[in-house]
Amino acid sequence: MSAINNYIKENKDRFIEELLDFLKIPSISADPQYAEDVKHASEYLAGRMKEAGIENVQIFPTKGHPIVYGDKMIDPSLPTVLVYGHYDVQPPDPIDLWESGPFEPVIKKTELHQQGAIFARGACDDKGQLYMHVKAFESMAQNNGLHCNMKFMIEGEEEVGSDNLEIFCRENRDLLQADVVLLSDTSIIANDVPSITVGLRGLSYVEVEVTGPNRDLHSGVYGGAVANPINVLCDMIASMKDDKGRITIPGFYDKVIDLTQEERDALNSAPFSLESYKKDLKIDDVMGEEGYSTLERTSTRPTLDVNGIWGGYIGEGAKTVLPSKAFAKISMRLVPDQHPDEITQIFVDHFKAIAPDGVKVEVRPHHGGFPAVTPTDTKEYMAAHKAMVDTFGKEPIPQRGGGSIPIVAMFEEVFGVKSVLMGFGLDSDDIHSPNEHFGLFNYFKGIETIPLFYKYYAELSNSN
Ligand code: BES
Ligand code: MN
Ligand code: MN
Repeated sequence: MSAINNYIKENKDRFIEELLDFLKIPSISADPQYAEDVKHASEYLAGRMKEAGIENVQIFPTKGHPIVYGDKMIDPSLPTVLVYGHYDVQPPDPIDLWESGPFEPVIKKTELHQQGAIFARGACDDKGQLYMHVKAFESMAQNNGLHCNMKFMIEGEEEVGSDNLEIFCRENRDLLQADVVLLSDTSIIANDVPSITVGLRGLSYVEVEVTGPNRDLHSGVYGGAVANPINVLCDMIASMKDDKGRITIPGFYDKVIDLTQEERDALNSAPFSLESYKKDLKIDDVMGEEGYSTLERTSTRPTLDVNGIWGGYIGEGAKTVLPSKAFAKISMRLVPDQHPDEITQIFVDHFKAIAPDGVKVEVRPHHGGFPAVTPTDTKEYMAAHKAMVDTFGKEPIPQRGGGSIPIVAMFEEVFGVKSVLMGFGLDSDDIHSPNEHFGLFNYFKGIETIPLFYKYYAELSNSN
């Protein structure tokens, strides 16, 4: 491995520069105005993949944003690993809260990143983490270090639900055939506490519209006599949780698989400091479902959260108005065995049922995704485990993640292929927030660990 490690050291600056150029492209998948930039990012990535020595690099157009594919097949008797990542990013707003431009990457030290971190939208989620795989490939290829057949599938629509990826996968079964999926789009517990993600939550996302009177009204002339859709929406949202923090939508918990006490104890034994958690977020206390720890609330329990709410007058000063409409975007994080479509349907039914007669409501479902759990008794988990032991000098802890990555459950359903979630970010890297960043330590730790994954995966595949 030392040849590979030397190569990584010698090319360190270039590996950083290339990532910075990638980060300058505002590949915001949610906003149609950025469609050309998303395309540009796919072309930039395809170019770098070819330079790294990846073969058959192709950009597949979809109804939405393109998918970048490439492979390197070295020997049919060796296992095939499919690397997944996403080159699209979340919108950067609120833009005023960024200390430097979201698409003007800079390197700065932070308390947790003493070796410096790259600040830019997508630095950690997921351009920086997917680019580790491109540079790991280059480092292996240049040093006779390829141990497996490899395929790359990097999409541009993860942040908007991966709808076209599923179609692409179903239409290209042969092209994508693999033994396992490897992705880095999750986090480790801390730079000295490695972990491997063994579960993801699912997602149901809806937008609601509440309409009261047919037009905005004078709030003195009509206020108190006509339903105010903003007041009504707030009441409706508030009623969807009880005083124990449990969601009141009938049937919401029906399919939730409760963990055994043993599983809960194991999960809660992971290193976690509630004090540092509160300090980092500058909050005096945490809040959530009664009877569960913070780690459980963010991994094995389902949630309902308002992501945005608007309506009425929000300009300067005061305008007395009783608005005609109110809106909210609501997400529900799901756990096994909740089904995103079923949850969306019971939400729609419930939301309509609790609406008072003075308003009309509409619910528009957005994307969804299934929850996933990945086993720890597989070759791929063992390979990731051994690779991390080598580079961190410590055993990684299996941990369930709270976020969602729709491809993981989808790939298992379509191809019967499992994923290994070997991410290198930190939860405090501010993904989706202003000032997203990714530690240089983490970037290079990933580039060093990935080649070892292939080495061990090939060895373990050979032994049975
Ligand atoms: N990389 C994240 C998911 C993630 C982050 C998982 C940290 C575990 C730990 C991914 O890009 C993401 O943000 N997914 C979306 C879901 C999508 C359907 C919009 C999410 O979780 O909100
Ligand atoms: Mn991601
Ligand atoms: Mn994301």
